[in-house]
Amino acid sequence: MSDSVSPLNDPSASGKPSPNREQWSSRLVFVLAATGSAVGLGNIWKFPYITGEFGGGAFVLIYLICIASIGIPIMMAEIMLGRRGRHDPVTTMKKLAKESGHSRSWGLLGWMGVISGFLILSYYSVIAGWAMAYVPRMAAGTFVGLDAQAVNSVFSNLVSNPETLIAWHTLFLFMTMVVVAKGVRGGLEKAVTYLMPMLFLLLVILIFYAMGTGHFSEGLSYLFNPDFSKITTEGVLSAMGHAFFTLSLGMGAIMVYGSYLPAHTSIAKASILVAVMDTLVALLAGMIIFPIVFANALEPGAGPGLIFKTLPLAFGQMDYGTLFGTLFFILLVFAAWTSSISLIEPAITWGMKTFQISRIKTSVISGILVWFMGLFTVFSFNLASDVTISSVISTQYGEFVILKDATAFDFLDYLTSNIMLPLGGLMIAIYAGWLMKQEYSREELSVGSFWFPIWSILVRYVAPIMVIIVFLNAMGVVAFVRSIMGV
Ligand code: PFF
Repeated sequence: MSDSVSPLNDPSASGKPSPNREQWSSRLVFVLAATGSAVGLGNIWKFPYITGEFGGGAFVLIYLICIASIGIPIMMAEIMLGRRGRHDPVTTMKKLAKESGHSRSWGLLGWMGVISGFLILSYYSVIAGWAMAYVPRMAAGTFVGLDAQAVNSVFSNLVSNPETLIAWHTLFLFMTMVVVAKGVRGGLEKAVTYLMPMLFLLLVILIFYAMGTGHFSEGLSYLFNPDFSKITTEGVLSAMGHAFFTLSLGMGAIMVYGSYLPAHTSIAKASILVAVMDTLVALLAGMIIFPIVFANALEPGAGPGLIFKTLPLAFGQMDYGTLFGTLFFILLVFAAWTSSISLIEPAITWGMKTFQISRIKTSVISGILVWFMGLFTVFSFNLASDVTISSVISTQYGEFVILKDATAFDFLDYLTSNIMLPLGGLMIAIYAGWLMKQEYSREELSVGSFWFPIWSILVRYVAPIMVIIVFLNAMGVVAFVRSIMGV
């Protein structure tokens, strides 16, 4: 693909496609690619385990509110900025800022995205490696007839072995970088078109299994019956952070995808479609996993191993479980693959432009850097599992836990999902809502005179205020103010 010509070189630019910049072949392809980015480990691995850690229903409700009121408007904003900028996130932000007469330091937003993508991919690749490691185990029938304890020990054996984790991490990262090196269109478009629907189908099959466990309604009530006594400030922050993570927002991934979007495509429709599909997959995963948890007296808060301890148990018991289980983990790897590609895409487009080197070279260098970073996560499950940090602020108004016994993996996850992505999203909302000329956003979104003001209110007030309150809340500031004011 060519990055050298951009409509931004032309002051009359209005987001019209540059003749030389590669574009998605249709809106459907864009939606599939954005869904490919959004649907990944976040939905199937992370959503169930953090829901379990933060006590179920109340967490899910806050997460859903964040998707609707923060996620969708910010996704529209991020795609819009990308399409208007038609560059890597750093250049896009600098050029858009210049276009509207604002400081070029908006490029820092792109920078933060490039770094977030690096950090997330470093652990994402290790966890995707776990999913890959399960493919041969599933295919060999390892889990057939195993009880919960035996399934647990398969997982513990895997993660306690750094060499094995490094091998799978290397393979997954290599697969990612090969597709990235080939450019956007080559590998990516084809892969997402077939695999996403297949993954969805398998989830539906698994729902039927979950219904047969006898604990389906218990699972549903755990997910959808909010018990607010169980939610902590950290839970609220994580629910919001996860809304960003799961929709791939706040770091420029969707901005880069938006930069390949043809000018006439409806950003609003595409965003809503992507968010709905993403949420559906996460809820399906939750509806599958919690009945299995309760049917086998497992711990909902089992942590990052949750799906690796529950799903194999189900596959080990069901008819054709070996076949379905193998297929499931293959598809999970594909879902992770299409997400990991988008995680590194901002860094690649930025690296190519900044250092004037080829896509292939940029991919090799990035891959090596991410690989080394990934070792922190690998070791945090074995050799360095007891190297942890805690950050608890004790005041006369109470104790505020920011991080508790966090391993390197926990820290990376917290820093990226709970801080960097929402911060990036906040800046995107502020830029798109307050600084970009309304005539530009109106023109780009072209959602009609009814929806535009609604989007505008969401992106100017609702999303930024919610993000700021959740941040302040997590830092203990809200409780502090309330206690002073006696409310
Ligand atoms: N949305 C992906 C998932 O849920 O697995 C993760 C992700 C991809 C986050 C791309 C951020 C991103 F830019």
